Amino acid sequence: MSDRPPLSGTVLITGASSGIGRALARRICVEARRIILVARRTDRLEALADELRNVRIGIDVDVVTCDLADPAAIDAMCDRVIDEGGVDVLINNAGFGDRARLEDAQWPKLQRMIAVNVAAVVQLTHRLVAGMVQRGHGGVLNVGSVLGHLYQPGVATYAGSKHFVAGFTDALRAEVASAGVVVTELAPGPVATEFREIAGAKGGLRPSPGALRIDADTCADDALRGFRRGHAVIYPGRLNRWLMRLLAVLPAFVLRWVMARSGAKTRHGPA
Ligand SMILES: NC(=O)c1ccc[n+]([C@@H]2O[C@H](COP(=O)([O-])OP(=O)(O)OC[C@H]3O[C@@H](n4cnc5c(N)ncnc54)[C@H](OP(=O)(O)O)[C@@H]3O)[C@@H](O)[C@H]2O)c1
Repeated sequence: MSDRPPLSGTVLITGASSGIGRALARRICVEARRIILVARRTDRLEALADELRNVRIGIDVDVVTCDLADPAAIDAMCDRVIDEGGVDVLINNAGFGDRARLEDAQWPKLQRMIAVNVAAVVQLTHRLVAGMVQRGHGGVLNVGSVLGHLYQPGVATYAGSKHFVAGFTDALRAEVASAGVVVTELAPGPVATEFREIAGAKGGLRPSPGALRIDADTCADDALRGFRRGHAVIYPGRLNRWLMRLLAVLPAFVLRWVMARSGAKTRHGPA
């Protein structure tokens, strides 16, 4: 039984074309035997693959173009990956948000969000964790969010999707720990990536304040430190970590009251 994720083996990273996923790939390439980079933007993945091959001569880097909102495409990718020997570590990082009150949000975007942030995480893990359990070692790093432990008006579906990731990760961790598989959640606060631009802001909602924002490199460093130590949940960034500790001891009704006021303010303006 092992309690360290085998990052020196084959590592599959979703959402590697940008932000946190790309920063994780750059760090993991110094030790992994093989990296599989997954996203939709092939040109970006190819550029990253070339960069990684230059950093570490002899590393095996594969690019897989896959729309994770498409279950058939995920299945086809998993068939190929399993045929080639499976993965030692799976990093479910791909995801996106939508900053809008629910009544202003576009259903097709919410539907895609649920497909990528929730369904794809389960499908990929379901297909790839079996091999880890059989081998008696492996690791799964699921990228959630602080909003998977809190909530905030204007991002209900996104927060719900990340609450799913938090619960799924915790339960799976308990399920496979005795089989030597480490399952960890990375729960970032604001990180300077393309995320905010893609989440947009509809109905006069403002993006989250920048004081807590960290860069993707710091996020990836903290993520890998915690993952190597087998932590259950990692809150990257010192300030974010302290804030989450503080909020954990706050009675739930206080947070509900604060968030209800904040929700009312976005609808009716300051009281
Ligand atoms: N940045 C933040 O403030 C923040 C805070 C908390 C949690 N997070 C979480 O961190 C993770 C990474 O986000 P990021 O900040 O690095 O944002 P990002 O820079 O926008 O990167 C998102 C990645 O997800 C991929 N992706 C999105 N939809 C996809 C799809 N349908 N199929 C395949 N790949 C898809 C994108 O690749 P393609 O577009 O090339 O497909 C991209 O590589 C997400 O799960 C996000 O929810 C971010």
